[in-house]
Amino acid sequence: MPNILLVGNGAREHAIAEAVVRSSRQPRLFAYMKANNPGIADLSAGTRQGGYGDKANIVDFARSSAVDFAIIGPEDPLQAGVVDALQAVDIPAIGPTQSLARLETSKSFTRNLLEKYGIPGNARFRVFTAMPGVAEFLNDLDEVVVKPDGLTGGKGVMVQGDHFRDKEEALEICRQILAEHDRVIVEEKLSGEEFSLQCLSDGIHVVATPPVQDHKRRFVGDRGPNTGGMGSYSCEDHLLPFLREADVLAGLDITRQVAAAIHRETGQYYRGVMYGGFMITRAGLRLLEYNARFGDPEAMNILPLLETDFVDLCRAIINGALTDLPVSFARRATVCKYIVPRGYGLPKDHPDAQSTSARIEVGNTGPARLYYSSVDKRTDGLYMTTSRAIGVVGIAATLAEAEGIAESAVTAVRGPVDHRPDIGTAALIAKRVYHMASLRGPR
Ligand code: AMP
Ligand code: GLY
Repeated sequence: MPNILLVGNGAREHAIAEAVVRSSRQPRLFAYMKANNPGIADLSAGTRQGGYGDKANIVDFARSSAVDFAIIGPEDPLQAGVVDALQAVDIPAIGPTQSLARLETSKSFTRNLLEKYGIPGNARFRVFTAMPGVAEFLNDLDEVVVKPDGLTGGKGVMVQGDHFRDKEEALEICRQILAEHDRVIVEEKLSGEEFSLQCLSDGIHVVATPPVQDHKRRFVGDRGPNTGGMGSYSCEDHLLPFLREADVLAGLDITRQVAAAIHRETGQYYRGVMYGGFMITRAGLRLLEYNARFGDPEAMNILPLLETDFVDLCRAIINGALTDLPVSFARRATVCKYIVPRGYGLPKDHPDAQSTSARIEVGNTGPARLYYSSVDKRTDGLYMTTSRAIGVVGIAATLAEAEGIAESAVTAVRGPVDHRPDIGTAALIAKRVYHMASLRGPR
């Protein structure tokens, strides 16, 4: 009966918690959370509330709960060095050390690593610490993307055509970024379809989970500002309608080479999730970025499908024994839709902005899975707390059925909420397939 610590309080962690307690090893779950997630609390033998930078508090909770290992959900505690602090008291973790979490926390680390080790899939890029040379490099590229070298919650990336018009504006944005950050990255703008490939690594072996497509834009039809992700889907054949098996294998191969390069570069084994955001372009597969954790919402698509015992899987990752364990996922389609406050992602002066802390009622969500995210359970009911509130997931034999299940569940949540009804629908998927076909051209 292992004791397991989970750090995190979002819907992703709710899905992780569910995978833990489903294990036949009869684990006891201990959850360290920034805010009290009622779904995770219900599944836990014990909880503690605190900040993700408070390493002493996390280590104290882990020791007093006599945990065998820890699972770190979000990126903030990884960046804070929570895994290093746990390792110092002999508690292993699913999640990289602070140095290896640079895979996500430093975009320049990852781009430079791919370049140094000749790993395919890199974008043309350069990292600048000051303005000299920026203008020349901008002019070398066709269209550009500009990003600060750090965690930005998916919102710091500036894309030409979306966030600014021309090279002159790009130059000004670089100047602004350098006023606040040490480094700015300028890279070529890639065009194509994006997918998320969440891989598990024990430092030597890397295993892929089914590919998922997330929807970052706030509104129907991929309009509006970028968000943390409004919903996502995966298919029963473990591909996506616009994706070929060779694309998935190419993403896995890049990730295997990156895991090996990390070991050669740092002498440390990467134990945790390597979630590659890839784009299929006219010229082939390209890496947008890595995250050092499961995706949110993408974890909700793949963890419910996991057929392998999750506790065994975690142990295999920790022990460098991933190849000894068959890792399999049910051949089912999934559609996840996030229910968000109507004001989510909107400017503070927007009339709907107040809805971000309103009370909601959850009715009968039918066969859908329900994962709590930013909600607060008070004595007088359930309140939203500014960000994405609840993820609902339909799981079925086909995408159409899974979409129907998720969509009916959304209607069971009452209050000033919103969601994207187009996620997982035939119309939106046809658009993606058409887009990809027009990029690939005739076979
Ligand atoms: P990130 O903050 O690194 O997660 O990136 C957020 C989003 O920015 C990605 O999902 C892409 O949609 C977009 N993006 C990042 N890099 C590029 C690029 N080189 N070309 C086009 N879009 C990009
Ligand atoms: N779905 C985007 C992320 O988890 O970063």
